[in-house]
Parts: sequence; structure tokens; C-alpha cells
Amino acid sequence: MDKVICLEALTKFYGETRALHNVDLTVQAGEVFGYLGPNGSGKTTTIRTLFDLIRPTSGRVTVLGLDSRTDAREIRRRVDYLPGDIALYERMTGHELLSYLANLRGGVDWDYVMQLTERFQCDLKSRIRTLSRGNRQKVGLIQAFMNRPELIIMDEPTAGLDTLMQQEFYALIDEVKAEGRTIFISSHFIPEVERICDRVGILREGELVTVEHISVLKDRALHQLEFRFAQPVPQDVFLGLPGVHEVLIEDSSVKCTFAGSPDAIVKTAVAYEIVGLKSHEASLEDVFLAFYRRSDTDVA
Ligand SMILES: Nc1ncnc2c1ncn2[C@@H]1O[C@H](COP(=O)(O)OP(=O)(O)OP(=O)(O)O)[C@@H](O)[C@H]1O
Ligand SMILES: [Mg+2]
Repeated sequence: MDKVICLEALTKFYGETRALHNVDLTVQAGEVFGYLGPNGSGKTTTIRTLFDLIRPTSGRVTVLGLDSRTDAREIRRRVDYLPGDIALYERMTGHELLSYLANLRGGVDWDYVMQLTERFQCDLKSRIRTLSRGNRQKVGLIQAFMNRPELIIMDEPTAGLDTLMQQEFYALIDEVKAEGRTIFISSHFIPEVERICDRVGILREGELVTVEHISVLKDRALHQLEFRFAQPVPQDVFLGLPGVHEVLIEDSSVKCTFAGSPDAIVKTAVAYEIVGLKSHEASLEDVFLAFYRRSDTDVA
């Protein structure tokens, strides 16, 4: 079983509103796949179709090889889900909720639940309605992880979590991945996506504008090296070097903006006396922003 999630020409209209248009996507077993896009681009809509919580207008969705429309029960039994707008049973305590959900599945490994509870410093004794947003989210995360499913689908899982809990979540994702299980998450937080995802899909206005490995997107990100030389260097020494996009020269300072390796730039620079050096790391944020903003005509 290689294809864990498969969307074929998935289209969804809410009345006149087009939420998804011809989305084709395959997620492979063992991947951590990030689903990104601006607000309203169709992420939640996509995720809800996977569980038959909404019906596609056209197209086909399979999860673990099962058809989302005809085999929804089986999908819900085998796949765990953390919705974005987590509406839990307010009057239950976290413990009661987890017991209830565990019973639906015919039991759970309580040792593992307790480990998760400790790691997320989660309060299972209070009624859910009394918990803060982040603390509710932790109960939601525990229910998504506790059955050790082969596929976990999460809609903005770290929304509301503090930095420490985010780190714990990332560590847990690494463990799930190491066990060969698959994770599909939507997110708005680029450093998180960079930290945990193997591949990402970027949606814009209901269309999937790119599906790419994080490493490929990183290679496209622009870095900057800024040299201060003892004397001005000739205008053109850095222009035309591999990966160089822009060279700005001011007196004896040179700013090189480049993608990929700095090797050629550094080897060229050492021919001159360097008195200062600054490096600005590329931000993936810029790469994503470009996808979010581009019109259809100029997508590379
Ligand atoms: N139940 C609904 N009825 C009508 N329109 C809807 C409904 N749910 C979503 N939409 C519309 O479908 C589009 C996609 O919404 P969706 O919630 O999938 O976006 P999203 O990518 O999850 O956004 P966000 O980042 O804000 O969570 C939006 O234009 C939204 O207004
Ligand atoms: Mg959403």
C-alpha cells in the first residue's frame, strides 16, 4: 500500500462558491505531508472530504485505498483526525472523553495515553469546557495519536500550543514517522512545516499550485552574503557566478543575493582582502509567499 491518500480531480462548490478546483494529489505511505495555503484556500474542505464529512461536487477521493464515499466508516475506523475547529464533548473530562473514544475503537493502550498526557502536560481531570484553548488542543492531539493509526490527519494541529508543546509535538511527529506511519497536516506556520514535513502542497483559491519536496523549495530560497573588502572590488566579479541573482556594490561593500551553494561566491571573494562578512539565511517564508501571491500566468 503505497498511496495513502489519493485525490483525483477533486472539485467542491458550496453553492456558487468554488472551494476546490480539480485537485490531484497523492500522498505516499510514510510521508509527513504539509498542506498549505492562505485563509479560505480550501485546506479544511479537502480534509473534510477525506472523511466524507462533506461530499465532493466531482472527482474521487481514496484513503488507504478505500473510497471516501462508500467506505467512510472503515476510513474513520483506521485513520485518526484532529479537526481545526475542535468541538469536544464539553461536559466530559478529558479522561472521560478519551475513554469514550477508546471504547469506540475497542480499547486503547492506556500506558501510551498516559505517556502522551505527561508529555503534553495535559489536564485530563477537568471538564473540557473549563480548559483553555491550548489545553483543549492537547486533548485533541492525544486522541489523534493514542490509537497509533497508520494515518493521522490534522488540521492546524499546533494552533494554540505554546513553544514548548510545539516542540513536543514535533518530536512526536518524528516518532510516528520513524515507525513508517503517515501524517497529513495543514498549517500556516512555515518554520513548523520546514521542521517536520517531507513534502508540501500549496493551495491557492482552491487550486493546487505546487507539490514539492521541502528540500527543493529550500534550494529556491534566496540567501545573502555581504562582504566588506579592504578596497573596492571590480563591478563584475560576482555577477554571472552560479546561483547569483543580484549584486549590490557600495564603496568597498558587496551584497550578493543567491540561491543554492555559496561556494563560487566565497571562492571568488577570497581573492580580495575581506575585513567583514555577514550572512543572511534564506527564509522559506519568502518562497511560500511567492506561491501564495502569484497569478496563474506566472507560476514557474
Ligand atoms: N460550509 C460552507 N459553506 C459555504 N462556503 C464554505 C463552507 N466552508 C467553506 N466555505 C468556503 O470555501 C472556501 C474554502 O474554505 P476552507 O475552510 O476549506 O479554507 P481553509 O484553507 O481551510 O482556510 P483557513 O486557513 O482559514 O482555515 C472559502 O471560500 C470558504 O468561505
Ligand atoms: Mg481551515
